[in-house]
Amino acid sequence: MARAAVLPPSRLSPTLPLLPLLLLLLQETGAQDVRVRVLPEVRGRLGGTVELPCHLLPPTTERVSQVTWQRLDGTVVAAFHPSFGVDFPNSQFNKDRLSFVRAKQEANADLRDATLAFRGLRVEDEGNYTCEFATFPNGTRRGVTWLRVIAQPENHAEAQEVTIGPQSVAVARCISTGGRPPARITWISSLGGEARDIQEPGLQAGTVTVISRYSMVPVGRADGVKVTCRVEHESLEEPELLPVILSVRYPPEVSISGYDDNWYLGRSEATLTCEVRSNPEPTGYDWSTTSGVFPASAVAQGSQLLVHSVDRMVNTTFICTATNAVGTGRAEQVILVRDTPQASRDVGPLVWGAVGGTLLVLLLAGGFLALILLRGRRRRKSPGGGGSDGDRGSYDPKTQSHLARQEQGPREASLEASSLPSSPPQWLAQASSSADNSGRSRGFRRPTRKKNWKDLPPISHPPQRPSWRNQKCPHNSSLWDPRNTAQ
Ligand SMILES: *[C@@H]1O[C@H](CO)[C@@H](O)[C@H](O)[C@H]1NC(C)=O
Ligand SMILES: *[C@@H]1O[C@H](CO)[C@@H](O)[C@H](O)[C@H]1NC(C)=O
Ligand SMILES: *[C@@H]1O[C@H](CO)[C@@H](O)[C@H](O)[C@H]1NC(C)=O
Repeated sequence: MARAAVLPPSRLSPTLPLLPLLLLLLQETGAQDVRVRVLPEVRGRLGGTVELPCHLLPPTTERVSQVTWQRLDGTVVAAFHPSFGVDFPNSQFNKDRLSFVRAKQEANADLRDATLAFRGLRVEDEGNYTCEFATFPNGTRRGVTWLRVIAQPENHAEAQEVTIGPQSVAVARCISTGGRPPARITWISSLGGEARDIQEPGLQAGTVTVISRYSMVPVGRADGVKVTCRVEHESLEEPELLPVILSVRYPPEVSISGYDDNWYLGRSEATLTCEVRSNPEPTGYDWSTTSGVFPASAVAQGSQLLVHSVDRMVNTTFICTATNAVGTGRAEQVILVRDTPQASRDVGPLVWGAVGGTLLVLLLAGGFLALILLRGRRRRKSPGGGGSDGDRGSYDPKTQSHLARQEQGPREASLEASSLPSSPPQWLAQASSSADNSGRSRGFRRPTRKKNWKDLPPISHPPQRPSWRNQKCPHNSSLWDPRNTAQ
C-alpha cells in the first residue's frame, strides 16, 4: 500500500498536488474489491489548512447511508447523511474549522467522496482519524489517516565573539525557532569543535526551539574561519545551510619582512615591514633595537621602518612590537650590513653553472653519438653476438667513464644499447619528463599568505547527498512542498 502525505491546500495550488495521487490510488485498486481509500499520513502546517482525502471507490452497487469521521477514541468530528446533511458534533472541531470538500448539504445522493478539510490547524488536531462509510447492504467500510501537524522553524546562526584562551567556549550559535517536530542541527567544520543542543518550548504551543552551540578552545587560527550550521527539518526540501564566520580575539602575531640579506653601506630606501595578524587590528607599532640605540638613519612610520641610506648604525637587530586590545606581540630581525653589495657574487655561480650545464649536455650528446656509432660498427662486425653483457666491456673507456659520472640515465642507456638505434633512449624520455615536471613546479604559484588566518583549509562538506528525506519519510512525500506552505 502506498503511503503518502498530502500538501496542505495552500493559497498556491490547493488541489493540484492531489491529482497524481488520486490517479495512482484509482489504478491500484483495479484488482481490489470495493473499499475506502485514504492516505495513511497527511501533514498539515500549524495554523494552515489541510485536506484528508477519503473515497469510496467504484465499482459498487452499495448505497451509502452515512459517512462519519472519528477520532481513534470514537469521538465523531464530522458526519454526513444523504437526507439529514452535514453535522460537526464536537465543539473543538466545529464548522468554522471543518468542512466536507465535496459533500454539500443539498446533495441528496450517494456520497463517495468524504474528503474532509481542516482550517486553522492546531496541535491538538494531530491524531488518527477514521473515515467510515456506512453502506447498504454490505455494512461499514473504513480507512484511517494519521494527521500530523508540522511547523516550519525559523533558523539563524551567529558567531559568538570570544577571546583566545585555554578553556573551551561557544564560538558559534545556531537557533531553530518554533519547529514541530524539533529541527535537527549539525555543524560542518574543519576545526573539530563540539556541538551541544538544548530545546525549549517555542512561542506557539507544541513547537520547539532548538539552540545548538558550537564550542572549541579559542585559538588565533580559528579567527575568520567559516563554520556552517546545518538545519534539517521535514518542512524543508533541503537542509538549510547557515555559514558563520568565527571571531576570536587574539594578540598580534608579528613577523618582519623586507630584509633580503643584501643591505650594504650606502644602499638607499631599504625598508622593513612589520607583518601582523591580530583581531582586532593593531592599535600601534613600536620599532626599537636590541642594543637600545635607535639609528638616526632609520625612520619608523607605523608598520614600516624606512632607512633612507644604510650606514653602520643599521648593523643591529630591530624589534617590532605591535599592540592591540588583547595584548602585544613582537618580532626581531637581525640586519647584517655589508661593505659592498652581494649581488655580483650571487650572479657569478649562476652564470658558470649555466655554462657548465650546457657543456655537460653537449658532452653527453657526443658520448651518446659515439656509443651508437660504436654499436653499429660492432654489430656489423659480429652479427648475432648481441648480448648486452658482452657488449658492455667493449665501450670506449673514455665514454664509459664519462657516462659513469652522469646520473643513472646514461647507465640505463648503456644497458639498453641493443635497442638504441631503433627506439628513443629511455634516459632521454626520462630527461624530458623530468623537465616537464620541473617546468610544472616552476609554474606552480604558492598561494600568498593572507592576514588573519583566512587561508585555512576549506571546510569539507559532507561527502554524500543527505538522504534525510527518505529517512524521515519513508513514504511518498513528494506532495509536501514547503515552498507552497503559507507563512
Ligand atoms: C457485498 O457482500 C456480498 C456478500 O458478502 C458480496 O457477494 C458482494 O459482492 C458485496 N458487494 C459489494 C459491492 O462489495
Ligand atoms: C496514528 O497511527 C500511526 C500508525 O498506525 C501511529 O504510528 C501513530 O503514532 C498514531 N498517532 C497518534 C497520534 O496516535
Ligand atoms: C656588522 O656587524 C658584523 C658583526 O655583527 C660585522 O661582522 C660586520 O663587519 C658589520 N658590518 C659593518 C659594515 O660594519
